[in-house]
Amino acid sequence: MRRAIYPGTFDPVTFGHLDIIERSSRIFDEVIVGILVNNAKVPLFSAEERLDMLKEAVKDRPNVRVMSFGGLLTDFARAQEAGFIVRGLRAVTDFEYELQMTQTNKVIAPEIDTIFLTTSLKYSYLSSSTVKELASFGSEIDRFVPEHVAQRIKEKYRL
Ligand code: PNS
Repeated sequence: MRRAIYPGTFDPVTFGHLDIIERSSRIFDEVIVGILVNNAKVPLFSAEERLDMLKEAVKDRPNVRVMSFGGLLTDFARAQEAGFIVRGLRAVTDFEYELQMTQTNKVIAPEIDTIFLTTSLKYSYLSSSTVKELASFGSEIDRFVPEHVAQRIKEKYRL
């Protein structure tokens, strides 16, 4: 069984993330989307909200599960018996951080490999932060996130 973890903050999930999830679910037998809960970043959405939004977004993908985790990614991957970590690369600017993280993970967990998928061109500019910023100024975000996520973001900024 080739099981992979697709980790991230997912604050909130975008079409860019869903593109990576869809493509990795065709490569691996099972993909676990891992939502980091104790990130240094202060998220807009709670871990429960991020979990709900992601579960709804992948509900039609039988080999994708969504879980939250705290602590080290490699500990989570080992606990889930996953041999792979999947990360999306949008642009060369992502590369330095991703390489450093991958090499660190490889030193502490040599049996786990990180696989990079380049984000589809149509989503290469997209990030959760951009979507939140647009929404905070009242701009439409329906092109960037699923309907149920757009709704939740709008509710946050209406408060
Ligand atoms: O969506 P993000 O914020 O780019 O995801 C970053 C994430 C969650 C993959 C990364 O911060 C992470 O793996 N954090 C867990 C802590 C850890 O394992 N750190 C050691 C690797 S340098």
